[in-house]
Amino acid sequence: MPGAIGFDIYGTLVDPLEMNEHLQPVVGEDLADRFSELWRGKQIEYTFRRALMRKYEDFGVCTRQALVHATNVLGVDFSDEEQEKLIQEYQNLRPFPDVIPGIEALNSKGHTLVAFSNGVEATARTLLDRAGVLEHLHGVISVDDVKTFKPDPEVYHYLARRLGTEPSEIWLVSSNPFDVIGAKAVGLMAAWIQRKPDTQFDPWGIQPDLVAPDLEALAERL
Ligand code: 2OP
Repeated sequence: MPGAIGFDIYGTLVDPLEMNEHLQPVVGEDLADRFSELWRGKQIEYTFRRALMRKYEDFGVCTRQALVHATNVLGVDFSDEEQEKLIQEYQNLRPFPDVIPGIEALNSKGHTLVAFSNGVEATARTLLDRAGVLEHLHGVISVDDVKTFKPDPEVYHYLARRLGTEPSEIWLVSSNPFDVIGAKAVGLMAAWIQRKPDTQFDPWGIQPDLVAPDLEALAERL
């Protein structure tokens, strides 16, 4: 039965760790991996802390502040221009190779497909447009509209309100276990995109309804 599907963006449709390519020239080969992982980890940590503290700042602020923190921790000195270029490159992240074929296959099954992200809508639209994904989606829904972050239950209820459906009729598709668990806790169906076979799901006793390695495999099962 066709339904509504909300796709997480960062880590699911595009890979934030691709930033290594832009970091290597400035921090060197050895530090680039560590830097991009620390940057991504802090970015997400800041969203959790801001939601819990009710001290919302948008995802762009969390991304920028996490970048500054990573430079401080790793003792890297970026010029303002280098920092700005990295922030700009965050909007040029490429889609994983399975994303467009997978979304097209789900589209052909009649599903309503939206991006559902911590990212600010305008930023997400620019990213998805440049990645060639936006034209295959019916919409972009941002948690910024409710001024909190995943996995706050409010964001999943907002997704359901925007889609005009019950939570139980929506599939959340994400590579981020915290997002999958957050959606399940509100009663959505949830598919975990386990992009790396060695990635472990959190032992919370809350399981995804589906696990797939990529969106093409997901499209065969949804
Ligand atoms: C997103 O909302 C969680 O970063 C992830 O796109």
